[in-house]
Parts: sequence; C-alpha cells; structure tokens
Amino acid sequence: MQPKRSDHQVLVGICGASGLIYARHMLACLSAVPGVQTHVVASSAAAEVAATECAPGEYEAMLSMAHFHHGNDQLGACVASGSFPLAGMVIAPCSLHTAMALAAGLADDLLLRAGQVCLKERRPLVLLLRETPLASHHLRHLATLAEAGATIMPAAPGFYLKPGSIDELIEPLVLRALSFLRLPGLPAATAWDPQSPIQ
Ligand SMILES: Cc1cc2nc3c(=O)[nH]c(=O)nc-3n(C[C@H](O)[C@H](O)[C@H](O)COP(=O)(O)O)c2cc1C
Repeated sequence: MQPKRSDHQVLVGICGASGLIYARHMLACLSAVPGVQTHVVASSAAAEVAATECAPGEYEAMLSMAHFHHGNDQLGACVASGSFPLAGMVIAPCSLHTAMALAAGLADDLLLRAGQVCLKERRPLVLLLRETPLASHHLRHLATLAEAGATIMPAAPGFYLKPGSIDELIEPLVLRALSFLRLPGLPAATAWDPQSPIQ
C-alpha cells in the first residue's frame, strides 16, 4: 500500500512513557477522519510500557489501527524525508528522553528523525509530554523546542467537563492535540462553556 497523494498524512509517534491510552485514542480518532492516512512509529521502550499498561494483544491492535506502521530503525521510511508531504506529527505519550533528544537535535532513530524533519520543515509537531515533576534543565530544553516551533502539551487533562470515565477524561485532550494539525473533518475539541460554571 502506498500513501495517497490526495490524503493528509499524519504521523503518530509513541514513546515509552505512561499513557499509551493517549496513542490508542489518537489512532482511533484519526482512523475515523475521512481523507487522512495515519503513520505510526513506536520506540522500543513503548513496548516495555505496553507490557505493564496493556492487555495481551492490545498494543499490537493499537499499532495496526494506522495505515502504515514503520519500524523505529527504518531511517529510510517515507516520513524520514522532508520531501514527504506530512501534515504533522503528534508524539503521544512523549517521554522526557525523546523530548530532550529532540531539543538536542538528535535524529538517530525514525521517531527522532521524523520529529527533526517537522521542526526543520516548520510543520506541526505536538508533544504530549508525560513526566512530572520537571527539573530546570528539562524546562530549558522544552523552551528550546517551543522556540523551534513544537507545541508542548503536558499530558494533564482537564476535569471541568466532568468526565464519567477515563476515556471521557482524555478524549478532549487528544482532540486538542490533534487540532494543531488543522486537519479538515476532525471533530472539534469540546471547550469549557462559561455559561455552565463548574459546580
Ligand atoms: C513502565 C514504565 C513507565 C515509564 N513511564 C515514563 C513516563 O511516564 N515518562 C517518561 O519520560 N519516562 C517513562 N519511562 C522511562 C522511559 O521508558 C525511558 O526513559 C526510555 O528510555 C524512553 O525511551 P523513548 O523516549 O525512546 O521511548 C517509563 C518506563 C517504564 C518501564
């Protein structure tokens, strides 16, 4: 299968950070948007986290939701090239390790290379960062990334929409992260309504 030129190409990067459920929602949401083809690349640490967070087979099923699954060692994959028309990349969840490596300009695996390509080509790059607390050098590197054009989104969902489940808690954050890719047909993120104040 070849990427369709007429479709928007989106890359989801998955790191070895807690919160693989974010990636699952991201891929499920993107697969429901017409005219979008999804690529996924996961670090080896993501599989380690999957062993603790996912039911047997769940992680593999999640990866298979993407149209294209690239190995993290495939530095010749289409998404590694600046000439490939990628609409943007979301890394969810994003580990501190990957965020710091991106800030340092490293590109020695596909996830990092694709992130660097987004930065150099001025394409949307959203990092759903999952780590707390943060040290001063982490914050400095995150500022470097923000200055280079990345959107840093701490994986910190809001509670004001009164979620009744974990899925309802994280769905708005996933849609908010995807909104930075400006894809036509994406459902809008639910906004807090000032007319119905928090009780
Ligand atoms: C179960 C588990 C949970 C982890 N959770 C996090 C996390 O939430 N945030 C983080 O930055 N690192 C976390 N780590 C550590 C990363 O996996 C580790 O730094 C790894 O090198 C990240 O590699 P990657 O950025 O290539 O995915 C976790 C590791 C394990 C085994």
